[in-house]
Amino acid sequence: MIEIKKIAFKRGENQIFTSLSARIKPGEAVLLSGPNGVGKTTLLQLVGGVLRVQSGEILINGMKVDELSIKEQASIRAVAPQKRNFSLAFTVEEVINFLPKKLKAPNIDYIIDTLALRALMHRKVTELSGGEQERVSLALAFCQRAEYYLLDEPFSAQDSKSIKNIIKVIKTLQKADKGILVISHNQEALAQYFDREIKLS
Ligand SMILES: Nc1ncnc2c1ncn2[C@@H]1O[C@H](COP(=O)(O)OP(=O)(O)O)[C@@H](O)[C@H]1O
Ligand SMILES: [Mg+2]
Repeated sequence: MIEIKKIAFKRGENQIFTSLSARIKPGEAVLLSGPNGVGKTTLLQLVGGVLRVQSGEILINGMKVDELSIKEQASIRAVAPQKRNFSLAFTVEEVINFLPKKLKAPNIDYIIDTLALRALMHRKVTELSGGEQERVSLALAFCQRAEYYLLDEPFSAQDSKSIKNIIKVIKTLQKADKGILVISHNQEALAQYFDREIKLS
């Protein structure tokens, strides 16, 4: 379980959280919503170990995030950041194959097919559209063997068909008892697909 316990976090003069608590259990898909600038990405970076809480604590499977090594964190959670900048001209296939064998999920073919990436496998990531790059970035998270998947605005450049397909992958992960946290600023149409919504305001 991911447990966010009374955390506070300040960026410069900006107090983003004062005492926020939330939890994500295995098998649960949770939507994290709220207006622009409210702190959704910040929260994901705290859970993902990129930033450290200033008070309170974040536990993953009972262990403090800050006390886990990068390797340990990688084996527990996969993150698809809001923006992944692909700057090197590798193919989609090469990018996915960079994942260490130990970290690879068993259902990579299913993910590539469901995210409609099969026809793009030999294209260079730098030459794909924004929406296609976003799906590669998501695939990179889904292709990791993890217990939790943290996705920051995974639908922002997707059409309705792609959104449905991404939700299909999320449902499949849920059935395998994975916990999923999805950030979206555009939550109204999406809430129905999730077990719960955490609203930041
Ligand atoms: N690297 C940073 N340094 C200072 N302030 C930041 C940084 N990144 C984001 N912020 C500020 O923190 C607040 C929360 O940002 P963010 O978590 O990205 O919001 P959201 O994802 O909900 O749109 C915003 O006011 C933003 O301007
Ligand atoms: Mg954000």
